[in-house]
Amino acid sequence: MRDLDAFSWKAALEGGCFVTGTDTGVGKTVVAAWLVRRLGGCYWKPVQAGRDPEGDDGEVVARLAGVSQDRIFPPLYAFDLPRSPHEGAGRAGVKIDLNHFVLPTSSRPLVVEGAGGVMVPLGNGHYFIDVMKRLGLPVVVVCRTALGTINHSLLTLEALRSRGIGVAGVIFHGPPDEENRRAVTEMGRVRELAWIPWRERLTAEGDLVQREMDDCGLPLEQFQLKFAHAEMADARNPCPK
Ligand SMILES: Nc1ncnc2c1ncn2[C@@H]1O[C@H](COP(=O)(O)OP(=O)(O)OP(=O)(O)O)[C@@H](O)[C@H]1O
Ligand SMILES: [Mg+2]
Repeated sequence: MRDLDAFSWKAALEGGCFVTGTDTGVGKTVVAAWLVRRLGGCYWKPVQAGRDPEGDDGEVVARLAGVSQDRIFPPLYAFDLPRSPHEGAGRAGVKIDLNHFVLPTSSRPLVVEGAGGVMVPLGNGHYFIDVMKRLGLPVVVVCRTALGTINHSLLTLEALRSRGIGVAGVIFHGPPDEENRRAVTEMGRVRELAWIPWRERLTAEGDLVQREMDDCGLPLEQFQLKFAHAEMADARNPCPK
């Protein structure tokens, strides 16, 4: 599959997409929530490793996107251990089987979130990138704007392309950094779909997406966060370096 051009990315995402990132904690769940809301979609996190105090990623997506739990498909594999899936599976005595990864049937665009980044091991010589290849959805890569992102983003794009996986574009997450964003998009020959600034704290009414690329022919949409969760709204939220 070749990369998607300006005119086809939105149509392609309407058929569903896979959200990966350059690292764990880079903002995939928040981006997935935005996409679920933007596309009127459903959400699936096939491998949930560890349970966050904020809830499983599916619960967070339902809350942020303001959709009911029936738009959230349950994980295929869920491990208590907040560690790599190959370790969580090993400790639980479970073998992760690539053949089990089949897209759930949905009449809405399905937004699938990976665990961590592309080379997260699943055990038995398999990596999350093999799941992406198998599912065949266009991939959205969530990248930080901070120092180090050029290396991580270009490596991620190279790994995807070397396996013939179509990249819909990148979504940046973090403080403004025009130079890093330009470097990733130019050197990585990739489309920027959106930039989401890091908020000092996530508030009930904050606008999430600062900029959505208007050359994609899309109207700029303010995305209202739906945080019902008091701890989350109150928690100090330092931006990771
Ligand atoms: N724009 C933002 N402003 C402030 N905090 C944010 C923002 N986006 C995400 N966060 C917080 O950063 C943390 C990591 O974000 P998120 O869970 O989306 O990352 P992830 O890539 O999905 O992580 P994982 O690999 O565990 O699935 C969460 O606590 C989330 O609430
Ligand atoms: Mg997540």
